[in-house]
Amino acid sequence: MRAARCTEYGSPSGLEVVEVDDLAPGPGEVLVTVHAAAVNFPDVLIVANRYQISAPLPFTPGSEFAGVIAALGPGVDGPAVGTPVAGAVLGGAFAEQVVVPVAALRSVPDGLDMVHAAAFHVTYATAYHSLVTVGQATSGEWTAILGAAGGVGSAAVDIAARLGMHVIAAASSADRLAVARKLGAEGGVDYVHEDLKTRIRELSGGAGVHLVIDPVGGDYSEAALRALRRGGRFVTIGYADGKIPRIPLNLVLLKDVVVRGFEIRTVRQYRPDAVVEADRVLGQLVRDGMRPLVSTVHRLEDVAVALTDVAERRTTGKVVIDMTAR
Ligand SMILES: NC(=O)c1ccc[n+]([C@@H]2O[C@H](COP(=O)([O-])OP(=O)(O)OC[C@H]3O[C@@H](n4cnc5c(N)ncnc54)[C@H](OP(=O)(O)O)[C@@H]3O)[C@@H](O)[C@H]2O)c1
Repeated sequence: MRAARCTEYGSPSGLEVVEVDDLAPGPGEVLVTVHAAAVNFPDVLIVANRYQISAPLPFTPGSEFAGVIAALGPGVDGPAVGTPVAGAVLGGAFAEQVVVPVAALRSVPDGLDMVHAAAFHVTYATAYHSLVTVGQATSGEWTAILGAAGGVGSAAVDIAARLGMHVIAAASSADRLAVARKLGAEGGVDYVHEDLKTRIRELSGGAGVHLVIDPVGGDYSEAALRALRRGGRFVTIGYADGKIPRIPLNLVLLKDVVVRGFEIRTVRQYRPDAVVEADRVLGQLVRDGMRPLVSTVHRLEDVAVALTDVAERRTTGKVVIDMTAR
């Protein structure tokens, strides 16, 4: 089978696509024929060896896939061979086959093709839990979403607007804000050229927002936190900026705000109830027509280009590798 291989940590431009041996599932595992794999920002960090967890060289990156069950390992009695599935793993998805623990599988929501199924679970579940499970989003409230044209950010704009929130998108250019507006954002702040705190306050009618969703970090975090209204909630979910912010705690005290975090890798362990509820709500929204924004689809041979574009902040929504495209 063909697989992307990382043989040296660093820039994604070093990734190669090579023929490797077919895989076989072990106990508790399944073999999936991968039809599509989505690029997530942590893939870039893992290739650079800058993620929380280090992958030993050489390895196949890729953390999110959709495909069909090709074989079941010892002790596994389903899903049946041929069943469409999606899933998230730490690595291995940028290949024609991936072996995963059966517990890592998710069902493909009705109505999603393989490309959109690959792009759905990580970003939409992260966005949903950040907004609702942790952020306590309520219809009619104001929310500011940073990195609003990116994968998680665009999903958060989409879900928040569908839940009846007033959404202020923050991104680095007018074109990227236009992407968020199409998904339902009422206002936009170009946080490279405008003052984030002042503009969020103005756009939300002066009082500030009830909720901030922050997948970006850096200096934007404190500015957005300062744009919360009294009693507001701030949810930190990532640091695409590369800098983990340090927030003066007096800001939390002065306005009685709540700062919380969310992590998709552990939610099934610690909040299985919330996962069931998220699946229910997101499944209904997909039946109502919601689709992840897939801006670019690449062949596996172009995986280095795909990851480089994400690393260099050039993409909107999701970038997907279509394993069936030649
Ligand atoms: N907590 C969780 O469970 C969870 C789950 C998934 C992802 N994440 C994290 O969330 C963050 C976003 O992930 P994603 O998949 O949405 O990534 P993405 O599609 O690449 O979007 C990241 C956005 O961040 C903005 N950004 C600002 N400064 C940047 C910089 N120096 N380099 C790159 N982007 C920059 C970019 O928008 P502008 O150019 O418009 O600013 C970009 O659209 C990552 O840190 C990821 O690790 C966390």
